[in-house]
Parts: sequence; C-alpha cells; structure tokens
Amino acid sequence: MGKIKIGVIGCGKWGINHVRTAYKLFGDDLKYCSDTNEESLLRVNEISGRIKFSTDLKDIFTDAEVKAVIVSTPAETHFEITKELLLAGKNVLVEKPITLNSDEAKALNDIASEEGLVLMVGHLLLYHPAILKIREYLDNGELGNLQYIYSNRLNLGTIRTEENILWSFAPHDISVIQFLTGSVPEEVTATGAIFVQPNIQDTTLTYLKFKNNVHAHVFVSWLHPFKEQRLVVIGDKSMMVFEDTLKENKLKLYRKGFEMVNGIALKMDAEFESIEFDKTSPLEIEQEHFINCILHDKTPRTDGHNGIEVLETLERAQHELLKV
Ligand SMILES: NC(=O)c1ccc[n+]([C@@H]2O[C@H](COP(=O)([O-])OP(=O)(O)OC[C@H]3O[C@@H](n4cnc5c(N)ncnc54)[C@H](O)[C@@H]3O)[C@@H](O)[C@H]2O)c1
Repeated sequence: MGKIKIGVIGCGKWGINHVRTAYKLFGDDLKYCSDTNEESLLRVNEISGRIKFSTDLKDIFTDAEVKAVIVSTPAETHFEITKELLLAGKNVLVEKPITLNSDEAKALNDIASEEGLVLMVGHLLLYHPAILKIREYLDNGELGNLQYIYSNRLNLGTIRTEENILWSFAPHDISVIQFLTGSVPEEVTATGAIFVQPNIQDTTLTYLKFKNNVHAHVFVSWLHPFKEQRLVVIGDKSMMVFEDTLKENKLKLYRKGFEMVNGIALKMDAEFESIEFDKTSPLEIEQEHFINCILHDKTPRTDGHNGIEVLETLERAQHELLKV
C-alpha cells in the first residue's frame, strides 16, 4: 500500500505482534513506535533498526507524517491516549476493550466523527477467516435458524491486575456472538469466581439472550490447565465448531440436530465435515482493513460504534458480577 506513515504505541506482549505485522505489511511506512518502557526498544530493533522509537508519546502526536496509529497499551490507558491522538488528527486502531466505560467510548466516537477520522477497535476475531466462514454459512442458510452459540476461552493466561477475566478475554467472544447474531442481547446475566487476587474475577460465565429465541453463553478463565478456544454455533439444520487451538480440523460442520416427524423428534446424526478457510493471519487482515478504511474513507467493520456495543454488553455483565 505504502501511502500512509504508521505508528504503534505500546510494544508489550501483544503490541509487538502489531509492530511485526505492520513492518511485514507496510515496511518503512511503519515510522514510529513508542512505549514508556525503554526496554521495548530492543524488541522493536529486532524487527527493524529503521523504526524510530521514543518513550515519549508526544513524539508520535506531533509527527505530522504519521497519520495512522495503533494503540496496544493496557486498557486503562486507551481513553486518554486515543483521545489525544484523535485530537492531534490521527486515525486510530485501538486494542480491545476500546475503553473501560461506554461514556468514554462514546466520547471517542464523537471526536472521531467530528474530525472525520477512522476509529477502529481491535476485535480481532471479526477479521478471522474462520469466523467469516461461519457467518457465510449462517447467511446462506446452511445452518438453518440460529439457536445457540457458546464460547470457551480458557488458558493458564496472563493475570491482569487492573481488569478481571471478563474484560480481558470476553470482549472477543462478545464481539463474535454479536457479529454472528447481528444484534445485541436483550438479557445479560453473569456470575464469576475470585481465587487469586482480591476483587478480580478469575473465571466468569455470562449468559446472553437475544431476540428470536437465540441464546448464548461465554465461559472465560485464566485459571485453567490448558488452552481451549472453542466456539460452538448451533442452528436447526446443522452446527459448526471452531477450535483455533487444534492443529487440524479447526473448523467443522456437523449436519446434526432433530427433525420433528409426526410429533416425534427424530435425531439426525452424521460425521463432521472439515471446512477449509483462508489461512491469512487475522492481524494482517485487521491492519490492512484499517489502512484501507483510511485511504478509501470507509467505515471499519469494528468501528467505534461496534466497540461501544461490545462495551455495553460487558458493562451489563460486570453489573451482574457485582451482585454476586
Ligand atoms: N486483540 C487481541 O487478540 C489481543 C491479545 C492480547 C492483548 N490485547 C490487548 O492489547 C493491549 C495490550 O496488551 P498486552 O498483553 O500487550 O499488555 P502488556 O502489558 O504486555 O503491554 C503493554 C505495553 O504498553 C506499555 N505502556 C503502558 N502504559 C503506556 C503508556 N501510557 N504509553 C505508552 N506505552 C505504555 C507498557 O510499557 C507495555 O510495554 C490490551 O488492551 C489487551 O487487551 C489484544
């Protein structure tokens, strides 16, 4: 593409993937990286010594050439950093969750609209070819009427001190479920458990009820012996399962279910079919989408409004957790 200079703020565990991907896609158009921790410079240098680095964010805010900035700092810093960037005229791709409350997210969305800038949220799975394939199967009627979706996102993961597991893991699942249902839930209930640190849930179970009798649940935990990322989508004609942690058969179609014949529910059973999907990295697709939206004045699939819808569901779930 090569028409826009790019910056990345926050080069930690996830941010460095953004740096590596942006350098692969855009080469020297990735002009600037910034992180308050100067040790990040070493990691950036390993990718390319030509990327400028500063521990002072203002260097990116004031660089007139940099028009697109990816923010991958901890969630509690997203609002302030994104606001400053938008006010400095930069288009922003901010990692999930967009902010820690929907009022702040709405404020960011308003600034972006007023300034005519792209504001995009890193709901990565909405750029995952397997998720897009499930959406395609839903849209073309292959699954029939959607009935139930559940997502397990489990790992002995990075324990956060500022946010609980719901805010750390569940934005992905909620964004996918709302994308597949094409709506926001009518009802949200949630429960959770605290073991490791005071007042921070290590595991939560969120139940979502949508219109047309569509139900879903999200089970997330960073206190789990192995990594499991399993998404199960049940329709009244067939079912799909996506397990990114598997080596093969990551996406399966099961033509299973029940058919009512003369008032009796007859079981339909079959072996699964493995479904192929494009293996391009979702982060590459996400970054390319960001730059394309800037270049062609388009609205991102995961724009500020989408970020707000996910955040509002998180807030409703968090409100339920406080009752526990
Ligand atoms: N989309 C995904 O799949 C995905 C996966 C993991 C993490 N994330 C998100 O990415 C973000 C970063 O997560 P992480 O795991 O890399 O965290 P991290 O703690 O490993 O890295 C954060 C980095 O930001 C830097 N930083 C902190 N405050 C800063 C500031 N004010 N200015 C500049 N730099 C600052 C830190 O020094 C650190 O290097 C979070 O929002 C997280 O939710 C997204």
